[in-house]
Amino acid sequence: MSRRVALLHGPNLDMLGRRPAAHYGTLTLPELEAQVRAWGVERGLDVATFQTNHEGAFLEHVHGLMGAVDGVITNPGAWTHYQWSIRDALELLGVPIVEVHLSNIEEREPHRRISVIRDIAAHAVWGKGPDGYRDALDFLATAIA
Ligand code: DQA
Repeated sequence: MSRRVALLHGPNLDMLGRRPAAHYGTLTLPELEAQVRAWGVERGLDVATFQTNHEGAFLEHVHGLMGAVDGVITNPGAWTHYQWSIRDALELLGVPIVEVHLSNIEEREPHRRISVIRDIAAHAVWGKGPDGYRDALDFLATAIA
């Protein structure tokens, strides 16, 4: 049976394709989500996608995933760097979480080097563009096999 993976994106990631290409590339979010779903199928992972620009909507979506998901891939966007409520909601799920960033957050402004979700992430990938999501799926395919 396929394992269930939630792919969760935070603020401004719906603007992919229009954000600075040097950091984020040229794929739109629907294109990226379709690619990740296809990579998931190859690995026996059923990927369900969600994006919001609203913190409360993100929290309530995560609450709704309790007991309904085997793993999470999340790019929380700017929330990564300061939004503890997002971290606390993800912690509730009790499943492996992979943090992904398209850009190389270690080589940008200092505030982007801070991640408040890193301590609950089983794995983190940054600076690899869309391929980072494939690495995240590879990690989960083993972690939740
Ligand atoms: C991002 C990096 C964040 O610092 C930024 O706020 C984003 C996207 C990334 O994918 O590289 O919105 O998470």
